Amino acid sequence: MMQLPPSKIDFYRTNGFVQIDNVFNPTELAELAGAMDEVMISNEGSSIQTDRAGGNYYKVLNQRVNTWRDHGVMAKYSLHPRLADLALQLTGASGIRLFHDHALWKMPGDSKPTPWHQDFPYWPMNESGALSAWIPMHDVDEENGCMMFVPGSHLKGKLTGVDLVNPQDIFDFEESKGIDRNSAVKVPLKAGSITFHNGLCFHYAHANNSDQARRVLALIFFPDGTTFNGKPHIITNDQGLVEGQPIAGGLYPLIAKK
Ligand code: SIN
Ligand code: NI
Repeated sequence: MMQLPPSKIDFYRTNGFVQIDNVFNPTELAELAGAMDEVMISNEGSSIQTDRAGGNYYKVLNQRVNTWRDHGVMAKYSLHPRLADLALQLTGASGIRLFHDHALWKMPGDSKPTPWHQDFPYWPMNESGALSAWIPMHDVDEENGCMMFVPGSHLKGKLTGVDLVNPQDIFDFEESKGIDRNSAVKVPLKAGSITFHNGLCFHYAHANNSDQARRVLALIFFPDGTTFNGKPHIITNDQGLVEGQPIAGGLYPLIAKK
């Protein structure tokens, strides 16, 4: 486990995101990266590839959801107690569950930025508090698709969801009044370092202008007790979740608790 200094926890709560360095050593990262390469080239299993090469969404993200259900090593890292424990410390929740993992690759070639958005409007949850861990397999910078965040934007609450393929400009929303796009900060990372961002924090990722795929594993964690809002979602559809009841059970495992 990694004990976060109070300054990191305060930073996350004030700004809606935080950078944490040296979470994984090179051996761990190589093991995770190798497993992700394997699941990304496989057509087997129950994980979901959201678009194919040539598609408009694929130009933003080559995405595969719930790789942990197909590969033991992906499960090892998606359910890694060190990560869930960091989420526990940042949120102050009594327990942390995994909502889903997703491999988020930005392919070289015709790459588009991930437009400014909040994540929370896409998730079928009533209470906010869910957050993403964003784990690159290599160094990331402006050239190959690092992230940007707007400090404090999570305090605006839940806005209208942005279409990631034909994006509206979130800064033009009436609801975004007072949020200055010029206050956004770029967060390049060294391999082994990660960020967490609150589902309400405005974020963006640069297009990948390098000649290699930008390979990221993102994990969505939520505080135990978060309830289902009944809205359709690719992960929860047809699972018998009950509106107003906690999202729970073995497909949303409780990984960390106080
Ligand atoms: C990305 O990795 O390009 C975007 C991640 C996110 O939207 O959370
Ligand atoms: Ni996002």
